[in-house]
Amino acid sequence: PTQYSCIIVEQDGPVGVIRLNRPEALNALGQQITQELIHALNGFDTNNDIGAIVITGSDKVFAAGADIKQFQGRTMANMIKEDTLDWSSKIRAVRKPMIAAVNGYALGGGCELAMMCDIIYAGEKALFGQPEINLGIIPGAGGTQRLVKAIGKSKAMEICLTGSVKLNAQEALAAGLVSAVYPVDKVLPQSIKTAKIIASKGQIAAALTKSAINQSFEVPLEAGLLYERRLFQTAFGTEDRKEGVDAFVNKRVAKFSHL
Ligand code: CAA
Repeated sequence: PTQYSCIIVEQDGPVGVIRLNRPEALNALGQQITQELIHALNGFDTNNDIGAIVITGSDKVFAAGADIKQFQGRTMANMIKEDTLDWSSKIRAVRKPMIAAVNGYALGGGCELAMMCDIIYAGEKALFGQPEINLGIIPGAGGTQRLVKAIGKSKAMEICLTGSVKLNAQEALAAGLVSAVYPVDKVLPQSIKTAKIIASKGQIAAALTKSAINQSFEVPLEAGLLYERRLFQTAFGTEDRKEGVDAFVNKRVAKFSHL
């Protein structure tokens, strides 16, 4: 077993659970924690027993953003050379569905991390914001891109340009940033419940679905529809498709082998 110092990694049946655990810095996403996060995600992504992943923080904070203290002494040159936000590209490459279970602050890189996940569930006290402009910088891990796609231009501009406007859980729900709002102590259990439903499906179909939906952000409709059609056809090459269709026809529950 791998020893982590900033995250807690657990398995709940077919669900991988990663808890950000750097309370002294409100789960600020510094080098160590992001390396550990990527390591744990890759471990789950390549583990056949895991069908979905939940990322969460504490009751008070999901993550308060990049580690601002690590910004001291940084230069443009070393930011470019070290590409400190490269972890965000690695999260994007995870094939298994990921759910963010967000309580408390999801600010800056924390909001961006939640948006890198495929589904967001929020606790009643969740707060989403992009305060980077207060530091003389801009969001760097998707805040100016994914937030617009999730909630539209005017709200995204307001949040990123003022650095002070934040979305509470109900506003995030109304804006379409999150799928559901739960009491604080129910967010993680509900996330695991949904993750278990996803994990009960064929992992190949889940990966293809995720890939197809994410493609809708990348390409024009016609190209996206063609991509979807090809993945649909690809699914017909799987054992899971044979099993799923046979189970339906014979009125039984499908048992997917992920082949
Ligand atoms: N980086 C490093 N340390 C942080 C941090 C961060 N993002 N956020 C909080 N901390 C530390 C504080 O420095 C403090 O440490 P000390 O006790 O050693 O002073 C500790 O966590 C507790 O924080 P506060 O005392 O500030 O707690 P609070 O409850 O009064 O306030 C808060 C909470 C409103 C979230 C406030 O901490 C805050 O504004 N944090 C910064 C939020 C932010 O600006 N995030 C964007 C970062 S830039 C970014 O994310 C770039 C990107 O796109 C990737």
